[in-house]
Amino acid sequence: MSTILITGGCGFIGSNLAMAFLRRGDRVVAFDNLSRRGSEILQKRIQEAGAEFVRGDIRHPADLDSLSGPFDLMIECSAEPSVLAGIHGDDASFVVQNNLVGSLHCFEYARRNGIPVLFLSTSRVYPYDRLNGQEYRETPTRLVPAGVSPGFGPGGIGLDFPMDGVRSLYGATKLASEIMLQEYSRQYGLPAVINRCGVVAGPWQLGKQDQGVFTYWLVSHLLNRPLATIGFGGAGKQVRDLLHIDDLVDLVLLQAGRMAEFRGDLFPVGGGPESSLSLLEATALCRQLTGQAPPVSSVKETRPADVAWYITDNRLAAERLGWQPKRHAEAVLRDIRDWLQANPGLLDSLFGAPAGPPPRFSPSSSPSATRRAASPAPAKPSWTGSAGRTSPITKSAWSTTAAPTAPGTFSAIWRCAIPGSALWTIRGRTATGSPSARAWNTMPASAPALSWATSPIPPMTSSPTTVK
Ligand SMILES: NC(=O)c1ccc[n+]([C@@H]2O[C@H](COP(=O)([O-])OP(=O)(O)OC[C@H]3O[C@@H](n4cnc5c(N)ncnc54)[C@H](O)[C@@H]3O)[C@@H](O)[C@H]2O)c1
Repeated sequence: MSTILITGGCGFIGSNLAMAFLRRGDRVVAFDNLSRRGSEILQKRIQEAGAEFVRGDIRHPADLDSLSGPFDLMIECSAEPSVLAGIHGDDASFVVQNNLVGSLHCFEYARRNGIPVLFLSTSRVYPYDRLNGQEYRETPTRLVPAGVSPGFGPGGIGLDFPMDGVRSLYGATKLASEIMLQEYSRQYGLPAVINRCGVVAGPWQLGKQDQGVFTYWLVSHLLNRPLATIGFGGAGKQVRDLLHIDDLVDLVLLQAGRMAEFRGDLFPVGGGPESSLSLLEATALCRQLTGQAPPVSSVKETRPADVAWYITDNRLAAERLGWQPKRHAEAVLRDIRDWLQANPGLLDSLFGAPAGPPPRFSPSSSPSATRRAASPAPAKPSWTGSAGRTSPITKSAWSTTAAPTAPGTFSAIWRCAIPGSALWTIRGRTATGSPSARAWNTMPASAPALSWATSPIPPMTSSPTTVK
């Protein structure tokens, strides 16, 4: 029996890994600050299966020092995983502290205690301007590479891909963490391995539009909630590969048994060319899997740091480890559907009626979020809609699922759960271009009036509401 420490053990990947190590008969300690909305559900799941839970924060070394080892392996998968994190500057220090300084604390704890480290990194370390600068041609449903260059081609993105360019704060903090772990590993003889993951998806992912997009897409179909293909002209032809969480679990279990041979070795891992989807293709598949066809609108403007095409070149992991993904994109989406159908309460509690906490991009643990919350509320926003009766809605009934696209062009999807009514999605556009987190904080406690035409409430997607 081994003892496995999983930082971020109540997240999507961490909790699925915890379950796998528990099934193998290992002792699992899950360390998590529960900052991700819904992580307490995953905490309950792994504790019921026998994991020990320690509430702590990787930004505070004393929290790590309080752990009772010894540990045979640390899996570092705690992070703020949204590529939009820090994009508006005011929360930049939060991302750096959480994803870089926090990871360094983990590596330092591992070094002092002689614990091998497995680190979950991301394909977002590749510069998006470089990726988007490649040549692509269009098929009826997706973009495909039009050429081959170092680290780039139809077989995917590999380690030879040029690394100079801009990659988002999220990508930069993860790349810096990779480099530091490699230094620790080589300088101190600390066994360490890094998985540079593309999109990972599957059951128990609490997907959002800016992270966990395929789960979000499938859930939106189950809830018949309007969607938008955003960026790259709005055609929905951007492509990602999808790695089934169970394939990642297989890889980690394999690596856990071979840690002694790793000294900062880096593996790009993802679904690969056989398991990839464009948004158009994902829409067709979700319709087939759910029998629902929510409206899909399109937004031409590309969000900051977005990538047109990313598929992982898995050849290194195949050659060195004999690993390759076995489950394909359709299986990923089908398994998410089956998981949610088997757990209908989750659909409501996680993805349905919002319970009122602030949206993810305004984490309550972040000092900047506290500052925002404390700042005086600007003028009350007013809402206009289609003619009809109006009703006040309490603030707790509102949340937003979309981050702003750019100053001045902020559009957000506001979800409104009126007691006793269906869920609404309302597209708004603000003249001020305020970040959506700020818009949340400026929502008055007794909310603006909202107009609708009839009762029961019809979908509002064809009657956009304006926030002034
Ligand atoms: N899911 C993906 O598609 C994907 C792709 C590439 C890389 N990754 C990486 O895999 C790792 C796990 O991602 P995930 O999808 O499970 O994300 P997740 O948000 O589901 O899990 C992260 C967990 O870390 C916890 N956490 C965050 N900050 C913390 C802190 N300061 N101290 C302690 N706990 C903290 C959160 O509460 C959450 O439970 C991340 O490092 C992410 O960068 C994920």
